[in-house]
Amino acid sequence: MKGIILHGGHGTRLRPLTHTGPKQLLPIANKPMSQYCVEALVQAGIIDIAIVIGGIGSNKVKEYYGNGEKFGAKFSYIEQDYPKGISHAISLCQDFIKNEKFVVFLGDNIIQNKINEYVSNFQSSNAEASLLLCEVNNPSQFGVAEIKDKKIVNIVEKPKNPTSNLVVTGIYFLTPYIFEIIKKLKPSWRNELEIADALQMLIDEKREIIYEIITDFWKDTGTPIDIIDANKTILENMRESFQGKKEGNVFIEGKVLVGKGTIIKNNVKIKGPTIIGDDCIIDENTTIGENTSIGDNSHLSNCIVSNSIIMSDCTIVGKMNINQSIIASNSKILRKQGETEKKFLLGEGTQIFI
Ligand code: TTP
Repeated sequence: MKGIILHGGHGTRLRPLTHTGPKQLLPIANKPMSQYCVEALVQAGIIDIAIVIGGIGSNKVKEYYGNGEKFGAKFSYIEQDYPKGISHAISLCQDFIKNEKFVVFLGDNIIQNKINEYVSNFQSSNAEASLLLCEVNNPSQFGVAEIKDKKIVNIVEKPKNPTSNLVVTGIYFLTPYIFEIIKKLKPSWRNELEIADALQMLIDEKREIIYEIITDFWKDTGTPIDIIDANKTILENMRESFQGKKEGNVFIEGKVLVGKGTIIKNNVKIKGPTIIGDDCIIDENTTIGENTSIGDNSHLSNCIVSNSIIMSDCTIVGKMNINQSIIASNSKILRKQGETEKKFLLGEGTQIFI
């Protein structure tokens, strides 16, 4: 079986973070979100993987993942000239897939459990597709699956009155027959070749679609709050480890991970779940956590940071309370004591709530 990871798209809901790179490289617990897809595939023995790239930062994807060797995989890169839809992105992979069954992962969908069992169930089935469904509280925002006799008989996109709370996640097990279906698709109102339309066509042709239910964690991380939520859940499930150096009294509570070369100074409080990367300096009187990730080589001093993602090479110095924030690499927030005036140098689409 082969794998496809979709790494293109517009990422409009995550601007300005996506002005400089694809959303799928944004870190969750200090690891690019698409790496969780790579790891799930590799763990299931799927190592021949195509990564569909396109738009801003495609080179960053190639730079990070390389030929796949570091990840125990073999990556092929397929360029999508414009985000013309998920079905369009899949159709570009026909030559790569040839006549094997395959798994498609949307690179911004994160799950925590293994997919090994789903892979073997689909391998041994005669179905043209297997979908991973997940129970959610807000099904109206997703594609809802209608099920009869263990078969999916309908998928209703964003229904006003959902018939169940089982929604279709962005992990699809498919056969090459889907390429024939996609050839027949027409662009939707948003001018995209939709995956929902392709699946509906399979259903209308009375092809068998089976399903599995994810009982664990699944998250489609399309918006900033989704990313903060995903960060919290992934952190909760990590194993604590401390490879840094404490200089003075450090108060650690709950599950905390600290990378090598990181120095934690006197009177710092860290509340888990929290991860602090390598080579950071956490100066006196700083409080970090809970639900917080700090990327490598960042410097925090005198501040409080919680429920947030601070990426690598950031500097946050001065008395301030940062909550529910995502701060991209190389950012600086400095506050001088007694200073009331605020100075900004902001990129396009920046959001500040004071
Ligand atoms: P979406 O999140 O539905 O779309 P988007 O990435 O364009 O984001 P936004 O709505 O905020 O503008 O895409 C789902 C996944 O599929 C995501 O990982 C990106 C990927 N994708 C492609 O690779 N190519 C495409 O043409 C599209 C539409 C999405």
